[in-house]
Amino acid sequence: MIRPDEQTADQNPDLPLVKLWGGRFDEPTDAFVEAFTASIGFDQRLYREDIAGSIAHARMLAKVGVLKTEECDKIVQGLNAILLDIERGDFAWVVAYEDVHMNIEARLIDRIGDVGKKLHTGRSRNDQVATDVRLHLRGAIDRILAELTRLRSGLVDLAEREADTVMPGFTHLQVAQPVSFGHHLLAWYEMLTRDADRLVDVRRRVNVLPLGSAALAGTSYPLDRAYVAEQLGFDGVSRNSLDAVSDRDFVIEFLSAASLAMMHLSRMSEELILWTSAQFGFIDLPDRFCTGSSIMPQKKNPDVPELVRGKTGRVYGDLFALLTLMKGQPLAYNKDNQEDKEPLFDAIDTLLGSLRAFADMIPALQPNRDRMRAAARQGFSTATDLADYLVRQGVPFRDAHEIVGRAVRHAQNAGCDLADLPLDVLQGFSAKIGEEVFAVLTLEGSMAARDIEGGTAPAQVRRQAAAARAALAEQGA
Ligand code: ARG
Repeated sequence: MIRPDEQTADQNPDLPLVKLWGGRFDEPTDAFVEAFTASIGFDQRLYREDIAGSIAHARMLAKVGVLKTEECDKIVQGLNAILLDIERGDFAWVVAYEDVHMNIEARLIDRIGDVGKKLHTGRSRNDQVATDVRLHLRGAIDRILAELTRLRSGLVDLAEREADTVMPGFTHLQVAQPVSFGHHLLAWYEMLTRDADRLVDVRRRVNVLPLGSAALAGTSYPLDRAYVAEQLGFDGVSRNSLDAVSDRDFVIEFLSAASLAMMHLSRMSEELILWTSAQFGFIDLPDRFCTGSSIMPQKKNPDVPELVRGKTGRVYGDLFALLTLMKGQPLAYNKDNQEDKEPLFDAIDTLLGSLRAFADMIPALQPNRDRMRAAARQGFSTATDLADYLVRQGVPFRDAHEIVGRAVRHAQNAGCDLADLPLDVLQGFSAKIGEEVFAVLTLEGSMAARDIEGGTAPAQVRRQAAAARAALAEQGA
């Protein structure tokens, strides 16, 4: 991933370096201050949104009669030509022009002459940058949602295939009860589905147009804000200009949702890392998702999950950077807000990359069913089933718990599983135990018995997978 801020922002000798706001200044900006205050190194990433916003603004200015049609046409042509230049890599970003907005505007004026100077009518960089960031984040959310859908679909496919596969379910990382591997995968699906829901909700508040708020107080031009919103696909326009230019809640909301999604990916990573270890051996990851060691020839390391687990911290950091950035700011716009972009872009790239890696990796995961089954047989995972059996024979649950506890201790001393104890030994713990108890003590019997909505019975897992598939189809997956 090459980030725009890794590109060099060198000077273009062809452009006259006249500041677009130079009028009231007596001396040039200190060279270091110029570089220190510039955001062009990272906000050039917003060029598409900036140009789209400017075109919509120009068309609206023509519609309300502030620009003549020919003027608007020249501006739109000029902006489209600049877009092509940038995409072709034929555009030198100039630090002296500070940011993406003034780089593009200066180039426009350079290209089409004085008409270009009319574009900024009724607009400020304050509402311009808020618009650009909202447009950019909206696009990013859509790409993230698409990757989330791909990952969720992969989980549902795998869960359906593995509905009958038994694995140990854990509490305290101790074997607790047998569960379906498909059930475990659908637990991950639920976590990620909440993440998708949250992002859809955040997107509603992102998709509001600030343009028309100008610097902070609105503008005296008769702008048609609804027309700009319509052209850019916004659901509506902001209601308060002071709020619109200073609000970055939508970035923080996104970073919160992104942090939760990364936390989920990190938990999934942790399990994948455990499961690929020799001690568990539950799954294999194909070689293409792993790397080796430069010294230990036998090693195959689960790098992708490890990196995702590690990258989670970056996104939490991005969230805290934004919360802290905003906490002391008076209304309305402050230059502090320029600091919103790098954490936002970092979180977008990190989440998108992590989701992409997971969406590619999950369908390729190879379960080792024998190992999972053997692990589920350890740790007396069907002890609760024996207690439930005794309850069905009329024993109160607390007494049943005590009886099974004693049977477990006995089996432990004998070095065997509950199901391996002879019937007469089991009957020594309770006379209510009959021959049919052995069906109850099997892993499959235990799993199938939990045939309740949300339970681990394979029949339930298949039902949940089908419901998930239907929900994904409704979302157009
Ligand atoms: N580069 C600035 C930012 O990222 C754009 C807005 C600057 N506005 C201003 N009044 N200095 O926030």
